[in-house]
Amino acid sequence: MTRAIILSGGWGTRLRPLTCTIPKTMIPVVNRPVIERQMLLLKKAGIKEIVLAVSVMADALKQYFKDGASLGLNILYTEETRPMGTAGAIKLAEELLEGENFFMLNGDVILNFDFKEMLKNHEDHGGIGTIASKSVDDPSRYGVLIINEQTMQIEKFLEKDEYSPPEGEPIPMPINAGVYVLEPEVFKYIPTKKKVSIEREVFPILAEEKRLYHYPITGIWKDIGKPTELLDGNILLLHDILKNHVIKRDNLIDNSLNVEGKVIIYPPCAIGENVIIRKNCIIGPNVIIGDNVYIDSGTEIKDTLIYNETFISKNVKIERSIISNDCHVKNGVILKGNKKGLVILASNVEIKENLRLINKSRDDITVCHHEVIKENIEYY
Ligand code: GDD
Ligand code: MG
Repeated sequence: MTRAIILSGGWGTRLRPLTCTIPKTMIPVVNRPVIERQMLLLKKAGIKEIVLAVSVMADALKQYFKDGASLGLNILYTEETRPMGTAGAIKLAEELLEGENFFMLNGDVILNFDFKEMLKNHEDHGGIGTIASKSVDDPSRYGVLIINEQTMQIEKFLEKDEYSPPEGEPIPMPINAGVYVLEPEVFKYIPTKKKVSIEREVFPILAEEKRLYHYPITGIWKDIGKPTELLDGNILLLHDILKNHVIKRDNLIDNSLNVEGKVIIYPPCAIGENVIIRKNCIIGPNVIIGDNVYIDSGTEIKDTLIYNETFISKNVKIERSIISNDCHVKNGVILKGNKKGLVILASNVEIKENLRLINKSRDDITVCHHEVIKENIEYY
């Protein structure tokens, strides 16, 4: 039986301040940790044993998943005291994974495809590794694959800064989607007790030896590494859940929702447990609300993520924003991000009455946890 290892040990620096209190892979996407959604897809493909390679904020993962019984999985852990790199991390699991091929996943990608098909493809060609690939318009922040279309072999693996695009506009390229099937032979390429990157130090060698293949995946895919990607990935998944009828539209909204008076909810939206929305609010489209959130009357929200226990007061307007746990957005506030730059409130933030946080720039407006905002913030 094939097993899987999921990497969850990076610092998540580009998602700070959200990742100051929660590891990146535990960030909810449509109200479930991104890594848990991956585990459920692996389970659907018949995988029962998953190793979590943890490091930064390891306890948050261990306390949440424990031995995996609540998900019907057997979860084991390897722990690095300091991050050992993407290959160094799996080297620690060599004994747990020996004997047969295994899946390896970056724990920070939203995806939806059939892992069984990928495994079959890998076993058919007989290489040491198969990398799931996705064509993206701008490959600059991913590992780029130079491929032979006939044989499906990867001729070159170029991690982020190693790829120089042709002059002018970026051209679409197949990139490393962060999901692999690997044979245990790969461990021979990873030295022990050393920080090693699989992308920089192992894949280029396997490509040179013609033992690395790619498998183009269909379906949604998004790395949540940056705030706009986190927001857009949530929206992508929300639409995908509805399109594929994984669950009915109404099931995205918990039965405990308490609505007072006339409230309009434009789909798609997802709403967690014990949420109260008072009269004359307009919610959606593309709004994802966690548990125990209170939204007072006359408030309008679209294209936004709100995590748990947050309180939004009256006549607030929110667009293209991410609001973390335990925030208080007071009466008449406007939070407005744009396609490239969001408004992000970390946990326990308070925004005083009638303030405007308006973002017209490419940089995010970020408010750190426990901050109290008393003045307008406008980015142009
Ligand atoms: N255990 C452990 N130890 N995990 C790690 C370590 C480590 O030292 N370093 C990173 N990780 C985990 C992160 O938590 C994340 O889940 C995953 O490995 C990938 O790290 P990122 O920091 O998110 O890398 P990236 O997004 O810049 O690039 C990677 O993913 C792209 C696709 O999403 C590369 O694999 C690219 O080639 C790829 O295109
Ligand atoms: Mg990433």
